[in-house]
Amino acid sequence: DWVMGDYISEAVENIRKQVGDEEVILGLSGGVDSSVAAALIHRAIGDQLTCVFVDHGLLRLNEGDMVMEMFARNLGVKVIRVDAKDTFMGKLAGVSDPEAKRKIIGKEFVEIFQSESGKIQNAMWLAQGTIYPDVIESAGKGKKGAHTIKSHHNVGGLPEDMHLKLLEPLRELFKDEVRELGVALGLPREMVYRHPFPGPGLGVRILGEVKAEFANLLQRADAIFIEELRNTIDEVSQKSWYDLTSQAFAVFLPVKSVGVMGDGRTYEYVVALRAVQTQDFMTAHWAHLPHELLGKVSNRIINEVRGINRVVYDISGKPPATIEWE
Ligand code: XMP
Repeated sequence: DWVMGDYISEAVENIRKQVGDEEVILGLSGGVDSSVAAALIHRAIGDQLTCVFVDHGLLRLNEGDMVMEMFARNLGVKVIRVDAKDTFMGKLAGVSDPEAKRKIIGKEFVEIFQSESGKIQNAMWLAQGTIYPDVIESAGKGKKGAHTIKSHHNVGGLPEDMHLKLLEPLRELFKDEVRELGVALGLPREMVYRHPFPGPGLGVRILGEVKAEFANLLQRADAIFIEELRNTIDEVSQKSWYDLTSQAFAVFLPVKSVGVMGDGRTYEYVVALRAVQTQDFMTAHWAHLPHELLGKVSNRIINEVRGINRVVYDISGKPPATIEWE
């Protein structure tokens, strides 16, 4: 609508004034906030923006390719994709404690981002998808509100020695407004209205030690769950079960159980499905998904993902359980 149109022209004007003819770098995570920030800044300054997308191999199925497709191909944004899967897997080998895994993923992410962005000549600005609730939250925690670097990865922020000025064009917006802005800038609606995804990604959805084999099984199981949620429409509300839930995903349990297939006995891993409804993610109810939907997802995962022979549904509320399993 025209109100959003006005907002965009004003924001574009402000970014141009701030940045002048200097170069900007932005860490693209695949998340909504950094994506909308990238689209807005690109609208303002085009090729003066370079995005760095560190792919840690713990994203949803095909997500890395989708990010490249959308930004590099469709929007013509300069994006450097760093395929760091092997590096992350190497660093995570033998580590099973959840907080230790978060720290490793966060630290590695920052190091790779820094070293890649260090290669970009003349970069003077670091752009971030900081939104208003992040500003409030970091002020409330007594951090350096105005200059705390947003971390999707539970680290204290990028080291000061990057010597970059911060560009945060979404600082005054709430999440809903960021989403509307994203749609107005041409980002696909289903991308902009996606469920939240934690920075450490599948690193905290593979319980215990993270292995490439587990990540592959989990990505495929999770994609089936999400596809069925999107395709199943609730008759009363006429909404999909994806839109009726706040967050939904599969969790990989490194536990083997016995099953049968044909004349044979199987001994394979278990996947748990988690779907919650919540306003603020501080408390949450497990979603009462239709049994037919759960049955279909279970059948498909067991038939299509060789290596998984059992699917369970998580019926724990928060509290006392958390939304994620780690
Ligand atoms: P829990 O599991 O604490 O999750 O009930 C609440 C919300 O936070 C997300 N979450 C994270 N997000 N880094 C993130 O960026 C993390 O380490 C992390 N851990 C949990 C979770 O997905 C849910 O939306």
